[in-house]
Amino acid sequence: MVLASRDVETLNLISDEINSNGGSSIAVKTDVTSLDSCNNMIKESMRAFGKIDSLILNAGISMWARFDKITDISLFHKINEINYQGSVNCVYASIDELKKNNGQIVAITTAQALMGFPNASAYSASKHALHGFLETLQMELGNTISVSNVYLGWIKGTNLRANALGPNGEKIGDSHHKHSSRAIDIDSCTTKIVQGIEKNKKTIYIPSFLRFIPVAKLFFRKWLFRKINKVTSQEER
Ligand SMILES: NC(=O)c1ccc[n+]([C@@H]2O[C@H](COP(=O)([O-])OP(=O)(O)OC[C@H]3O[C@@H](n4cnc5c(N)ncnc54)[C@H](OP(=O)(O)O)[C@@H]3O)[C@@H](O)[C@H]2O)c1
Repeated sequence: MVLASRDVETLNLISDEINSNGGSSIAVKTDVTSLDSCNNMIKESMRAFGKIDSLILNAGISMWARFDKITDISLFHKINEINYQGSVNCVYASIDELKKNNGQIVAITTAQALMGFPNASAYSASKHALHGFLETLQMELGNTISVSNVYLGWIKGTNLRANALGPNGEKIGDSHHKHSSRAIDIDSCTTKIVQGIEKNKKTIYIPSFLRFIPVAKLFFRKWLFRKINKVTSQEER
């Protein structure tokens, strides 16, 4: 397993834990916004393991701001560069190896890739873009690689909220908005993701009721929009 992000010290700690528990792991400092950095991550992966059979697209950044309150529109660029272009860079760097091994791409995405959410215009747009990109790949390369999407609701126990960008394009910090009781615990979330990947599921919804969003959007659009507005406002402190 190759662990890739910008904070290589933390990755090394996790990698050591994996290795001391019988796994085989390396950490590679990677910034997904740089294609050179993604190419290096793939080169190091090949050097350590000789092949690549899965690519998990997990790097992401969120936001919490109504569009009409945004004072720094570069927020859209920052979010897109990581969530969308960063994923494209990782796929571009690894696609030849994935094709050779009938590999699997798994996108850790969100309910906000299925529909817009208040306070998340750029985030939702970046995840919709990722969805369209991966759907195209599935059509073009479906006979050589497989693509899976993990649609997550609100998950507690990660830094996504503290790192989310506010209206001025800066991180909002961890005191801005709280998780309600509907948020899923990170451990149960990761267990479900691993189980879904092992079964090679094409779509994984956590929590499972998210699977009704596409249908509700078709037949109960007004009700769904009201509901999403309400539950999102309950997340405000
Ligand atoms: N938590 C939720 O409620 C939730 C809900 C729906 C979807 N998701 C999705 O789950 C994924 C993981 O989020 P999380 O909740 O675990 O948030 P998180 O704790 O903030 O983790 C984000 C991860 O992305 C990495 N990252 C950010 N920018 C990067 C860059 N330029 N290059 C490389 N890595 C980068 C971070 O590592 P470094 O900072 O070390 O680079 C970190 O490991 C995201 O794609 C998010 O959209 C989360």
